[in-house]
Amino acid sequence: MQHKIVLQESDIPKQWYNIVADIGKPMPPVLHPATLEPVGPDDLAPLFPMSLIEQEVSTERWIDIPEEVMEVYRLWRPSPLYRALNLEKAIGTKSKIYYKYEGVSPAGSHKPNTAIAQAYYNKKEGVKRLATETGAGQWGSALSLSSQLMGLECTVYMVKISFQQKPYRKSIINTWGAEVFPSPTDRTNAGRAILEKDPDNLGSLGIAISEAVEDAATHDDTKYSLGSVLNHVLLHQSVVGLETKKQFEMVGDYPDVVIGCVGGGSNFGGFADPFVMDKIAGKEVRAVAVEPFSCPTLTRGKYAFDYGDTAKMGPVAKMYTLGHDFIPPGIHAGGLRYHGDAPIISLLVKEGLMEAVAVHQLGCFEAAITFARSEGIIPAPETSHAIRVAIDEAKKFDEAGKEGVVAFNFSGHGHFDMAAYDAYLAGELQDYEYPDEKIKESLAELPKVKY
Ligand SMILES: Cc1ncc(COP(=O)(O)O)c(C=O)c1O
Repeated sequence: MQHKIVLQESDIPKQWYNIVADIGKPMPPVLHPATLEPVGPDDLAPLFPMSLIEQEVSTERWIDIPEEVMEVYRLWRPSPLYRALNLEKAIGTKSKIYYKYEGVSPAGSHKPNTAIAQAYYNKKEGVKRLATETGAGQWGSALSLSSQLMGLECTVYMVKISFQQKPYRKSIINTWGAEVFPSPTDRTNAGRAILEKDPDNLGSLGIAISEAVEDAATHDDTKYSLGSVLNHVLLHQSVVGLETKKQFEMVGDYPDVVIGCVGGGSNFGGFADPFVMDKIAGKEVRAVAVEPFSCPTLTRGKYAFDYGDTAKMGPVAKMYTLGHDFIPPGIHAGGLRYHGDAPIISLLVKEGLMEAVAVHQLGCFEAAITFARSEGIIPAPETSHAIRVAIDEAKKFDEAGKEGVVAFNFSGHGHFDMAAYDAYLAGELQDYEYPDEKIKESLAELPKVKY
């Protein structure tokens, strides 16, 4: 039986898919952080180039992928879809498990799918430098690579705890020609304000976003780039799901359930949205978002307007949120530690078109080890969340006496996360559930809006 289902370069989709066209409800407005009134393109112009702002508000179903972006995609796309035959055997399931392997990109994850597109549009509009945040370091690496390939400078604010846990991410970012600082830094007002109150602050994505936004907003030649959450990011990631559908067609199969881990929602959205398009058209398929118990945005957060960053500088969006002040514990899946979620994913969960589940860290590492010892590839801790639920879903089919088809997005490899594996194997990690009172506390700070 075939392990890999492989497409040709000519099979890379020529258009991105925008699920906003099919949800059947308008996206809620995005609000200005100071006025709490809907933003227009001019409000966003200091942060983003106009072509990305247009994509952000677009309701077109299909958007052409520029040839310059395709040219770079061809370095690693199409990515393989694997049938996880060895994993199936290892866990003794009768179900079929497939995974789309996004670890083949130079940066080792799905992130370059949007980083390349964002760098391209910025370059085209005359931008000199991009400023961004990174959690686990995957996004910072991806944008460094993409900036280098498109001829831009790049500054990365990396969440301090991840910076300490993953020193080689800095080396990668520097190798691709970008600069990186552990956030909070003393380079911005947002960073300095946090450090004044708490000099040992380990950072959060919310804080790092504030620093990058401030950097972009205060420099004329610089724009901000976000690796997840926004509509245009999910749009660019749709190449993942579109390829996967072609690969399923090649083998005459179709998934009962598609699964992805969720930080800001981009790899899951990119993978699942093209299947949810079929679901909206009447096909039976479930889409399951997986998040950590320690940052349970979709499962225990509130669907409300909230700031995207801690210093309240970025736009306010309607999404599932734990509150912009929420600082999750330092679990090793740094890329899943965001207080909010993509407005598109949030709306799809709210409308019942996607489901969400939270899982504990230890169960994820156990699944990752099972995967590494059967399929060979070592998953990023973020990805291990999807593997945990893929295994659980396959077993549920077994228990029901059915042979299910389970597919998950393998968002990235874990070669720079080995300290986390060491800690797990040494028995030093523990599960963590965020206390209700803490969530209530941070939710009390949501902005009061009239929409
Ligand atoms: C390997 C990997 N998977 C998943 C994520 C989560 O991000 P998103 O939900 O945007 O896909 C990250 C974020 O850094 C990541 O590095």
